[in-house]
Amino acid sequence: MKLGCCYYPEHWPEKMWAEDARRMAAMGLNLVRIGEFAWSRLEPEPGHYDWDWLDRAIDTLAAAGLKVILGTPTATPPKWLVDRMPDMVAIDEQGRPRGFGSRRHYCFSHEGYRDECRRIVTALAERYGQHPALAMWQTDNEYGCHDTVLSFSAAAAAAFREWLAARYGTPDALNAAWGNVFWSMEYRSFDEVDPPHLTVTEANPAHWLDYRRFASDQVASFNREQVDILRRLSPGVDITHNFMGFFTEFDHHDVGRDIDVATWDSYPLGFLEQFWFSSEEKRAYFRQGHPDIAAFHHDLYRGCSGRRWGVMEQQPGPVNWARFNPAPLPGMVALWTLEACAHGAELTSYFRWRQAPFAQEQMHAGLLRPDSSEAEAAAEVRAAAEVLADIGPQVCAKAPAALVFSYEAAWVVGIQPQGQSFRYLELVFETYSALRARGLDVDIVSPEADLSGYRMVLIPTLPIVPEGFVDKLAALECPVLIGPRSGSKTQSFSIPDGLAPGALRALTGVTVTRVESLRDGVAGSADGFAVTRWREDLAGDLVPELTDAAGRAVVSYKDGVRYCGIWPDRALLALLVERMAVEAGVELLDLPEGIRVRRTQSLVFTFNYSSQSVFVPHLGATLPPASWHLAPR
Ligand code: GAL
Repeated sequence: MKLGCCYYPEHWPEKMWAEDARRMAAMGLNLVRIGEFAWSRLEPEPGHYDWDWLDRAIDTLAAAGLKVILGTPTATPPKWLVDRMPDMVAIDEQGRPRGFGSRRHYCFSHEGYRDECRRIVTALAERYGQHPALAMWQTDNEYGCHDTVLSFSAAAAAAFREWLAARYGTPDALNAAWGNVFWSMEYRSFDEVDPPHLTVTEANPAHWLDYRRFASDQVASFNREQVDILRRLSPGVDITHNFMGFFTEFDHHDVGRDIDVATWDSYPLGFLEQFWFSSEEKRAYFRQGHPDIAAFHHDLYRGCSGRRWGVMEQQPGPVNWARFNPAPLPGMVALWTLEACAHGAELTSYFRWRQAPFAQEQMHAGLLRPDSSEAEAAAEVRAAAEVLADIGPQVCAKAPAALVFSYEAAWVVGIQPQGQSFRYLELVFETYSALRARGLDVDIVSPEADLSGYRMVLIPTLPIVPEGFVDKLAALECPVLIGPRSGSKTQSFSIPDGLAPGALRALTGVTVTRVESLRDGVAGSADGFAVTRWREDLAGDLVPELTDAAGRAVVSYKDGVRYCGIWPDRALLALLVERMAVEAGVELLDLPEGIRVRRTQSLVFTFNYSSQSVFVPHLGATLPPASWHLAPR
C-alpha cells in the first residue's frame, strides 16, 4: 500500500514547495493529491488558462520522487463562472438557491455547467494527461458533500421530465405506476410533473423514489462525462473518485463501475460523533472511532469498483466539522493506516499535508502545523510507512461472509421510514458489526454481485428485489439471512401482489400480514433479544426458529434461508451470526470488546481499538491501546 497526502501548492508561497516535497518523501509518502479546488487559479479569467504554476508544482513534486493524483476542479466553480450563468447553482428543497462562497454550489443537471466542466477537464487532460508524474486522476471531490445530490432547479425539473418520459413512455403509464389517481395527482403530460418538493404534506413516495433514482443517475452521468474525456486524452491512467462515509444519496455502485479505483475519505472520530452511536459508545471511542467505522467503509468501497480501492483522505488529528473534534489517541493514525492495508487498500493519503492558517478549515489538523513543525501524526506516518515496507504488498481473498448493500434500499427506507428509528445504515452497520465482533472477514457487495462462493450471505433489508436476485439466492448452498421489509415494495413503490416479501415468498415460505413500528422498549423480549423498533406478523408455510414472549414467530427458517421479521438487536444478530457460521463450518473467534481481526492472504492483523490494554485470547497476549499485532496466516 502506498502512502500519500493532500497538498495545495496554491495555498503556499512557491519557495516552500521544494522543501515540502523533500519532507513528504522523507516521511515515506509516494503520492500527492493536488488541484481539486484550484479552478480560480487554473483559469483566473474566462478562457485564459494559467498552467505555469501547476507545471512547476508538479515538476517540484516529481523531482522529489513523488507522483501526483490530479483532481479535476469541478467542485469549486469560480465566481466569474457563477456570475455568467447564475442559474447553474443548485436549488435546495426549500426552493432557495445555494450561494457562492464555499463549494459544491452547482446543479448536476445544468447543461451549461456541464459544458464548462467538459471544457476545463479537456484542457487539464490535454495539458497533463501524458505527464510522467501523473499516477491517477480524481474526478471532482466528494459528490454529494454538503447535501448537494438533490437539486430542485429548473434544469433539474426539465431533466427529470425527460428521464420520466424515457422510463414510462406515456403519462398514463406513469400515473398507473405511481398510483396517481390517489388524491387526484394524475398528469396529462410529462411537462406537468415537478420535482417532489414544497408539497403541502408528503409527496407520493413513488414520485420521491424516481426523483432519487434520477438524481443518482445525474451524478453518475456527470462523472461519466469526465471519465470519457480522461480515458481519451490520458489513456492507461487510473481514475478515482473520493467517496464519503455513511453516505447513500447516490448509487456508488453505478459511479464505481465507471472508475478504476474507489477511494473514500476516512474521518473515524468525526463520523462517530455525527452519527447514531449511543452516548456510551461516543464516550468509549471518542479518540479511536468505533472499531467498525473505518473497516465498514473499507469493505463497502472494495465492493464498488472491482475490488480496487483506497483511502484518499485520512484524518490525521482533530477535524473542524463535527460537534466535538477530539484528537486521536496516540497510535491511532498508524493503526488506521495499517487497518486499511489489512482490508486490501492500495493507497492511504492523509488530509492534509499542512494545516491552513486561513479560511474555513483553519481548525483542521494536518501532518504539519501551520508553522511547518511536525504535528503529532507525522511520527505515526513514518512508523506506519516502515511497517508497510516490511510486510510488502498485501492482497485480500474473497471473505467468507457477504453482506448485501443497496443504495436503493436506503432511499426506500428513508422516504417511508414508517417508524422513526428504522435507519438503513444503522441496520447494515449493526449486521456488519455482529460479523466483525466474531472475527469474520466481510465483503460488502451490491445486489448485482455474484454471490456464489460465499460461506454465508446476509441481506439486512432489500425492500425492492431486483430481477434475477431470487434465483441467485435459490442457487446458493450456504446459509442466507434476509432481514425485515425485504421484498415489501415493487419497483414503483407499491405493496406487491400477494403481500411482502413479494418475490421472496416462495424462497422464505413467509407472508407478512401486518407490520408495526415500535417505540424503544415497549414490546416484550424473548431468549435474550428484545423486540423493538419493528415487528412483522409472519404467516405462511414457515418453520418458526425463534419466537417472541407471546410465542409469535420472529425468525423463520426454510432450507437454509432465514427470514427475520423484527429489527434485530445486537443479541439477536449475535445469535444468528453464530448459528449461520456453525452451519457453514466457518471458524469464529471470541473477541474482547474493541478488538478486531482482519486477514490478508499472508497475514492476520489484530487491532486494539480500546483505550485500555486488552488481553486477546487468540494471541495469548495483551495489546496496549491503539496498537496492532501481525502474525503469518
Ligand atoms: C472532506 C473534503 C476535504 C476537506 C475534508 C475536511 O470532506 O473532501 O476537502 O474538506 O473533508 O475534513
